[in-house]
Amino acid sequence: MNIFITGGAGYIGSATAEALIKAGNNVTVYDSLVTGHQAAVPEEAEFIHASLDDSHALAEALTSKKYDAVMHFAAFIEAGESMKDPGKFFRNNFTNSLSLMETAVQTGVKKFVFSSTAAVYQSSEEPLTEESPLGPTNVYGHTKLMTEQTLEWYRSIYGLHFAALRYFNACGALPGRGEAHQPESHLIPRVLQIALGQAESATIYGTDYPTPDGTCIRDYIHIADLVSAHTLALNALDKKDRLIYNVGSGNGFSVREVIETARKVAGHTIPAIEAPRRPGDSARLVASPKKIMNELGWKPQNTNLQDILSSAWEWHKSHPNGYE
Ligand SMILES: NC(=O)c1ccc[n+]([C@@H]2O[C@H](COP(=O)([O-])OP(=O)(O)OC[C@H]3O[C@@H](n4cnc5c(N)ncnc54)[C@H](O)[C@@H]3O)[C@@H](O)[C@H]2O)c1
Repeated sequence: MNIFITGGAGYIGSATAEALIKAGNNVTVYDSLVTGHQAAVPEEAEFIHASLDDSHALAEALTSKKYDAVMHFAAFIEAGESMKDPGKFFRNNFTNSLSLMETAVQTGVKKFVFSSTAAVYQSSEEPLTEESPLGPTNVYGHTKLMTEQTLEWYRSIYGLHFAALRYFNACGALPGRGEAHQPESHLIPRVLQIALGQAESATIYGTDYPTPDGTCIRDYIHIADLVSAHTLALNALDKKDRLIYNVGSGNGFSVREVIETARKVAGHTIPAIEAPRRPGDSARLVASPKKIMNELGWKPQNTNLQDILSSAWEWHKSHPNGYE
């Protein structure tokens, strides 16, 4: 297949691009490098350095060959920032996604795989199924939900087959590939940067949540398991025209548990400061991944928190400056 990957210089997009190339596909990465890294783009991929808001470059790229599928990873990802600068997120995560789906249908693309998020849901005591109440608590989640809903219209009007994969917290590393956001807002890389001496302390935002230890609980899904979900979803779009799946491990870990486990793995005290709740955070987001497991035969393989942190720690130790 010829596959067009936006955001393929980022953490999840580059790992997926590599797996798709290994499986024999031709991959084009389209990325502005606004947060990504050229060194993360697999060597065998064609690389187009351009932004999704450049409609001319986008149309030229998508007409340069016949693409079977678009996989859309490009976005701004920091939920906290979306509550301070909402327009930046509506423009990049929604308006640019709309341009991409519009150009995709105009150029005859039949399949579209979209990086959605657990942030489309309301916080819940129970594991989240695909039927759980929607209700983003931040603008970031709202932009992803808007994109999912718009994809549904493009499916019904133009016949575009789409999969929305609602990732929970991506984590861990693959050989030579890891998380490198700048600035880093995700908990696991943040705490490991402290262990490397690159930051002084971690901040725990909110210690009065209705959770056993008062801190937020998240479902951490290893990058290898996320990548395999993409391959399965892409193939399933041959027969299905709409797939919406939670992609999480089903296990929830609190902020304190993650920090405690990181201390053991890295052998460092990792000081942590307690601070008030942060706007946009939900108390608990944990997946029920049963639907994707039952329908696509997907099974998360890397669910042990210590192993996840060990894989991330190996990457951070060997790449203290990320891809730089
Ligand atoms: N990391 C997570 O835990 C997580 C969880 C849920 C959903 N997601 C979603 O998965 C996707 C990938 O996340 P990630 O962690 O790999 O992020 P990332 O920041 O590492 O990668 C995003 C990539 O998109 C590119 N990009 C952004 N805007 C662009 C534009 N206008 N034009 C072209 N390229 C652009 C960036 O340069 C970067 O390479 C995102 O859509 C994100 O919302 C991530």
